[in-house]
Amino acid sequence: MTTPVKVAVTGAAGQISYSLLFRIAAGEVFGAEVPVELRLIEVDPAMRALEGVVMELDDCAFPNLVNVVTTSDLKVGFDGVNWALLIGSVPRKQGMERGDLLGVNGGIFKPQGQAIAAAAASDVRVLVVGNPCNTNCLIARENGKDVPADRWFSMMRLDQNRAMTQLARKAGKPVTTVTKMAVWGNHSATQFPDYYHAEIDGVSAPEVVADHAWLAGEFISTVQKRGAAIIEARGASSAASAANAVIDTVRSIATPTPTGDWASVGVVSRGEYGIPEGLQFGFPIRSDGSSWEVVDGLTHSVSAQRLIDVTRDELLGERAEVTELLP
Ligand code: NAD
Ligand code: LMR
Repeated sequence: MTTPVKVAVTGAAGQISYSLLFRIAAGEVFGAEVPVELRLIEVDPAMRALEGVVMELDDCAFPNLVNVVTTSDLKVGFDGVNWALLIGSVPRKQGMERGDLLGVNGGIFKPQGQAIAAAAASDVRVLVVGNPCNTNCLIARENGKDVPADRWFSMMRLDQNRAMTQLARKAGKPVTTVTKMAVWGNHSATQFPDYYHAEIDGVSAPEVVADHAWLAGEFISTVQKRGAAIIEARGASSAASAANAVIDTVRSIATPTPTGDWASVGVVSRGEYGIPEGLQFGFPIRSDGSSWEVVDGLTHSVSAQRLIDVTRDELLGERAEVTELLP
């Protein structure tokens, strides 16, 4: 039998996990033939709720779900894992920005980074979802330095998917026609959904969408503020679409990127596009299934560069706020 993929999920009794775990167990992420072991991590007060989630996983009789471990001990949770999906943290409420969560959530990611470095498999890859996800990822990565920096990812895919749908609607085309949707910078209201380089049916988006005022205005702000709009409407932050974006992100990293496309992922900057080294920054990347690279050679207009500078500065500010959590 194939060796199971071991997947740790923190915040396993939370809303996102409730949409995610069943899709992982059903084979949607690693393939229908690949056995999966789930290692579900929660804080003690949520353990009873987690028991209920596990009962439901049991009751699905998923053929490929070979084992489920529940724990609040990080070393046990991350033991031997190939993937760590760091979701557990507090979501923002109406009226907050994601960066306002840094004080309450940032501290979660230091011990998690350390435990992943100490306990995970040598090929571990880590995706941080808990907000503010880019800087939380930076905290975990800096505290888990035994794991190479290129294995730590933060989630920009929900922004990419949101942007693709908005562009497709405006163009009156199916969402499958939208490619090369880069979202630069922070998963926050400063992110830059880059319509200049996006394509619709292989044609530059600004050539297809004649309403350039919409592209530069409403399109960008709708994507930037979509998380807040969902919180206002639902009374809770996005969960099913976030889980879907986790699945898309893991697949984009673990499988080769289709020719002529890329994926938006928060990755460690090595100075690409003038972004300071070490920031966890949303870039367009291409993967060969095991390693990835930032797409190079894109040029930015003066106004696009200004937007990138704003989101870069916000991430620099967040990093400055968490220096006491960095080794
Ligand atoms: P939720 O409150 O429903 O669930 C969070 C779970 O995390 C809870 O069960 C809680 O007990 C658990 N938890 C808290 N601290 C923990 C710790 N130290 N270790 C393990 N578990 C812990 O929240 P949710 O809706 O699932 O959202 C989780 C996070 O994801 C939030 O920070 C939210 O803002 C973020 N989020 C990010 C994106 C993105 O695109 N990056 C999208 C949606 C939500
Ligand atoms: C989102 O983009 O929906 C999430 O990051 C949740 C939030 O706080 O907006």
